Amino acid sequence: MLVKLLTFLLLQAAVAVLADVRSIPQPDQRQPSLINELVRQPPRLDGRIVGGQPINITDAPYQISLQLSFLIFFKHHCGGSLISKEWILTAAHCTLGKKTNQLRVRLGTSETKRNGQLLRIRKIINHEKFNVSNADYDFSLLQLQEPIEFDDTKQAVKLPKQGQEFKDGEMCNVSGWGSTWNSNESNEWLRQVQVPLFNQEECSKIYSRYGGVTDSMICAGYSEGGKDSCKGDSGGPLVNGNGVLAGVVSWGIPCAKPNYPTVYGRVSFVREWIREHSGV
Ligand SMILES: *[C@@H]1O[C@H](CO)[C@@H](O)[C@H](O)[C@H]1NC(C)=O
Ligand SMILES: *[C@@H]1O[C@H](CO)[C@@H](O)[C@H](O)[C@H]1NC(C)=O
Ligand SMILES: *[C@@H]1O[C@H](CO)[C@@H](O)[C@H](O)[C@H]1NC(C)=O
Ligand SMILES: *[C@@H]1O[C@H](CO)[C@@H](O)[C@H](O)[C@H]1NC(C)=O
Repeated sequence: MLVKLLTFLLLQAAVAVLADVRSIPQPDQRQPSLINELVRQPPRLDGRIVGGQPINITDAPYQISLQLSFLIFFKHHCGGSLISKEWILTAAHCTLGKKTNQLRVRLGTSETKRNGQLLRIRKIINHEKFNVSNADYDFSLLQLQEPIEFDDTKQAVKLPKQGQEFKDGEMCNVSGWGSTWNSNESNEWLRQVQVPLFNQEECSKIYSRYGGVTDSMICAGYSEGGKDSCKGDSGGPLVNGNGVLAGVVSWGIPCAKPNYPTVYGRVSFVREWIREHSGV
């Protein structure tokens, strides 16, 4: 019996390791479905903090860890942002096909595995225009079972106005528990990296083989690479210097590669949709 259980656990661990291998879209193959990649590898096509710094949750108290059931526990799956005492904004590719009882939200902690609170979700609302082939409208709202109390480890992020524009080159912070691409840098502690917003047309050109970027997307990253969000950061916050949520980590060509910025869901494009569905 014990042997059976151990074998089962080992098998599950192997599956988890395999599922964690980033898959790179191959532009020269027949046009791959972006979201097939995203959905098969839920913590993104791409998506942890590369080249960043550890931060405390008090520096980004809107950051949450969306966790997915795994055997008898829950495991970090994606990031997300508190937008009120009971609503979270994340990426639709993180929640697509998931049931509320498979997910939990850990918040109020700098560590994905401990402290803070692990909370149940009442409702998942994926954007109805979410397109699985090009990641258009990659937004999802999660309602917590019960509203939380705010403190210095839990606060709502500011939302932009509908249609609010952001300047190319404007610096933003992106945070998460995703891959650091460096075995010396733990991803169990929250990390953050500063990245500049990237010109939309340039970004669309770069990703033209994948259908380009749409109006519901915004890009950020350095032309020289090296600093980026990455696998496991999906759904997490991209916040500008005024503390406004400009983007939700969505997709991109694996992380921190020169000339490949990361593509984020453009929050100002769906501000009304957020209000309509959450009242926030
Ligand atoms: C987190 O906060 C503690 C207490 O304020 C401080 O000692 C520590 O250096 C901080 N860590 C980081 C990574 O900012
Ligand atoms: C989804 O995106 C694909 C690729 O850009 C496009 O061909 C298709 O028409 C889109 N579907 C919808 C429902 O907009
Ligand atoms: C990891 O740390 C070791 C020892 O401090 C160092 O020699 C090595 O270069 C580091 N590796 C990376 C990828 O930073
Ligand atoms: C990013 O976060 C760091 C540390 O919390 C802060 O010093 C910096 O001003 C932030 N940058 C932006 C653009 O918000």
